[in-house]
Amino acid sequence: MGRLLTRTQIQRLVAKHGRDVIEHDHMQIERCCYQHGNVTTFAHSVRVACLAVWLADRAHLWHRVDLRSLIRAALLHDYFLYDWHDWDNGEHRWHGFTHGRAALRNALRDFTLNDIERDSIEKHMFPMTPVPPAYIEGYLVTLADKISATRETFSRGRFHKKALPARAPLPEIGTGARRCR
Ligand SMILES: [Fe+2]
Ligand SMILES: [Fe+2]
Repeated sequence: MGRLLTRTQIQRLVAKHGRDVIEHDHMQIERCCYQHGNVTTFAHSVRVACLAVWLADRAHLWHRVDLRSLIRAALLHDYFLYDWHDWDNGEHRWHGFTHGRAALRNALRDFTLNDIERDSIEKHMFPMTPVPPAYIEGYLVTLADKISATRETFSRGRFHKKALPARAPLPEIGTGARRCR
């Protein structure tokens, strides 16, 4: 890639390389769960993908980064498919430490992933979880995630949460998904 990517170009790249993820039925569960502030897990994941591509572009890393793996790992990094704000008898108490692995487990069930994608999803909570990513794509995902999460958590929009659409149960996913709303 030569010139710096525009916002629209980045959005198109995410849509192109992440189409199967974005359109997957189970990904729609993320539309009915808030992640941070008034941002759903779905919107957060797309933001993280766009920001990860922007970071790679502005740091001139294209000779070292696989674009498709970066986008897919970013889109799937929070594919845990439950609402972590639900109390659920304390089941989600360790969410911060466990959801990378849960996201990977769900993603492996629904998609074919390469080593970069697997590692980057599982380790995206580093340094909260102790094992660092093995690939540069993983560092880009974790950095983009932290920047996005901080912005979303402290945005003014957090005071204006809309009711999200209720989601029909998807029995094959397990009980967590049904508790989206
Ligand atoms: Fe996460
Ligand atoms: Fe995230």
